[in-house]
Formats: sequence, C-alpha cells, structure tokens
Amino acid sequence: MANLALLGGEKTVTLDYEKVGNLPIVGAKAKAAVNEVMDRDEISLSPIVQEFEKKFCKYVGAEYGICLSNGTSCLQAALFGCGVGPGDEVIVPSYTFWASAAPIVATNAVPVFCEVNPDTHCIDPVDVEKRITKKTKAIMCVHVWGNPCDMDAIMAIAKKYDLKVVEDCSHAHGAMYKGKKVGTIGDVGCFSLQGSKILVAGEGGILVTNNREYYERATALGSYERLGSLPDDSNYKQYALTGMGHKFRPHPLGIAIANAQLDELDERNAVRNGNAKYFEELIADIDFIKIQDTYENCEKMYSYHYARYDHEKFGGIRLVTLLKALAAEGVTCGLCGYGRLHQAPLFTKGDVFGKGCPVKCPYADENRTSEGLELPVTEYLADASFMLAPRFEQPCKELIEQFSAAYHKVAANLDELKAYEVEHEEELKNYKPKSGRSINIFR
Ligand SMILES: Cc1ncc(COP(=O)(O)O)c(C=O)c1O
Repeated sequence: MANLALLGGEKTVTLDYEKVGNLPIVGAKAKAAVNEVMDRDEISLSPIVQEFEKKFCKYVGAEYGICLSNGTSCLQAALFGCGVGPGDEVIVPSYTFWASAAPIVATNAVPVFCEVNPDTHCIDPVDVEKRITKKTKAIMCVHVWGNPCDMDAIMAIAKKYDLKVVEDCSHAHGAMYKGKKVGTIGDVGCFSLQGSKILVAGEGGILVTNNREYYERATALGSYERLGSLPDDSNYKQYALTGMGHKFRPHPLGIAIANAQLDELDERNAVRNGNAKYFEELIADIDFIKIQDTYENCEKMYSYHYARYDHEKFGGIRLVTLLKALAAEGVTCGLCGYGRLHQAPLFTKGDVFGKGCPVKCPYADENRTSEGLELPVTEYLADASFMLAPRFEQPCKELIEQFSAAYHKVAANLDELKAYEVEHEEELKNYKPKSGRSINIFR
C-alpha cells in the first residue's frame, strides 16, 4: 500500500482551507462602508476617494496620493509623471506580472529587461547597472511577493546616472524598508488594489509620491476632474477640460472597501505574517525548499507565499511532480507564471503602435526589443519558484501543521515519487503554467 495520497494513500490535510484558513474578501465593515456611499448616491464621484488618499498617504508617509482605476494605470501615470516618454529606456525585471512592464510601452518607452536575485526574487542592482545606456530614464522595482527590493543599491544607481525610480508595490502594502514604508523610497510608488491583493478595492490602485510635479503630471494623464483644484501656479491646471487622453478614475464603491480595510491592514498583515513565518519554521528542515530571503532591516508582507525548489536536492524530481503530490495531500500550492515577460510578443516585437514604436520611435536609440534576450537567472527562477501555500488569513495553527505534515510526508517518500515519474513521464514533461500569471493553483 502506497503512502502518498497521489498513489492512493491517506490524505494528510483534513481541514478545509476555505473554512479555517481563508476569510471573505469583503467583510462586514467594508460592506457597511459601501452601503453608506450608495446611500449618498455617490456612484461616480465621491469624497470617499480623497478620504482614502489622505489616509493611505498618512499610512505610508507620502505627501501626495491619487487613486486610479487599477494598479496598471497607476504605473503608467507614474512613468508619465516622472517624465518617461518616447524613446526612453526603463529597466524592469522580467520576473513579475506583465503590468510592471507593459505600461512602459504604453508610454511609448522601451522596456529593458533585467535579472533578479535568485534568493530574494527581487531586481538585481548589479545587473541593472550593466544595462544602463544613455537612453535609460528610469528603473522599475517590484517588491515581488511582498518582499522589499534592495532599495539602497537601486537609489545609489539612480543617483549616479540621474534616473527616476518607480516602485511597484502591488504585493507589498505595509512592507518596510529600513524604517520606511515601500512606495516612499523611490520617486513614485504604485499599489494595486485589485481583488487578490492584501488591500482591495476590487479594481483600483493608488499612486503616491513626495514630488509635487510628478503628482500633478500623473494626475493630468487620466484624472481631468482633479485638475481644476490644483494650485493656480500648476502647469497642469490648464488641462482641466480634457486631461491628457486617458480616464483612470476609480470606482468609489471599490475605494470605500479599501478605505474600510485600511483600518485593519496592519492587524491582518500581522496575522498573515505570523502564520507564514510559523509555516516556514515548521518546514525549515526540508532542504529542497529555499525560502525567499529578505534584505537586512526589511519587513516582508506575506501577500503571496512563494519559494524556490532546488530539485537536485530531491533526487531530481520535477517541480510539477512535487506539486501534484502536495496537492493530492490537500495542500493548496501552485506553479509560478513569472519570469517569461522578455519572451512575450508584446516585448519581442516592440511594435505597439503599428509603426515600429516604441522601439523604432525616432527618439529611441536602437532597435531594442527583447527578441532573443537570455536571462538565465530569471529563467531558472521561473522554472524553480512555486507557490508554497496560500495566504493564511486567520489564526489556523492546526491547518498550518497539517500543511507542514504533508510537505514532510512527500519529502519522506522520494521512492514513490520516482516511480510515479517513470510511469507518467509524458504527461509531466509537457506540463506548462499559464505564463505571466502570479497564481496557478495546482489541482
Ligand atoms: C506586480 C504587479 N504589478 C502590477 C499589477 C497590476 O495591478 P492591477 O491588476 O490593479 O492593474 C499587479 C496585479 O496583479 C501585480 O501583481
């Protein structure tokens, strides 16, 4: 009789994650807040948006903030805000969601993909510096999986070459870098508030900065209704009638949800982080799992729980086999879709506007698509990183212990896995995650 549930053995996880580990996305306070806004008939414009902006700015320690329709529009507005335009190059990791990079081309600028550190999964400053040309204008850092980047190194490079820094904080609401909240270290910080994040509006985003010019310019791009109230000496007040061609206004009902949730963010982050760290402690003896390293004096928010699988430490077993075995034991886990952006047609072709732009824009230096670009570390991490566990949203010690027991059971049954691989060779070798997606839950 086999031990592993994958081969007919008994399943380890008997508790239901949805019942004991998860929580409804929209709780009672958020529902009440939405109803209040609806009772006031404020379904398009509402002061709840400005209320949230002020509260969020206070929370992160930024002077200016504007809510937009999503994190993607925040990133586009941030790039435009700090002056990125036609032909400019922006260095961005490939190990991220597409929205860290695609807004660069939407700005008619050129994304230049760089490597990440295989232990922290964050942008590699040494590799960034190697990719700087006279066209480089900005660096896009992503605090991936809630883990703060090496911002001292990035800011030193930015200073040396006079570059702007945009922080994509979509996974990192509340994460700390040396005593400061992420999003306030570079020139502009952007937070997605999409429904899978740790602070949600359903769809929505918020951009923060301490620079008045960047704020006003970012506002001008897609928030015409806000331009009339800019100070009289603003260069952007003149665009109050038209904005600059986009409409990035967020839905106030969504922002009402985020506004209510912000009051509980620290408390909920503490529970999530405590649970995730407990889980990491329990599986620390499993040497084929490499937990994401955190830079010194940083606090990661466990918005997602990803790790790296070192298959050579587990008899060469494929990641997909490991995940199948874990899933059969009842663990919620998944493959990773990050790390292949440099191979996506949007960036290998670089012809977004049909006339060769942005890469053949007259302002661009050379035809710099990502066609044929090799990023060995990123590609390795794309294959090796995986979702270790879901977000444990409430205290659930017993469930976490069951997950740990499942990992230990799988680790102790290498021979059964080897036999399974021999039998299912064809199926396993053709398995592919959905590229570009952060979550590919394994079933
Ligand atoms: C790293 C990262 N950046 C940007 C975004 C884009 O945010 P949104 O979906 O709100 O447009 C996401 C959303 O998943 C993300 O994970």
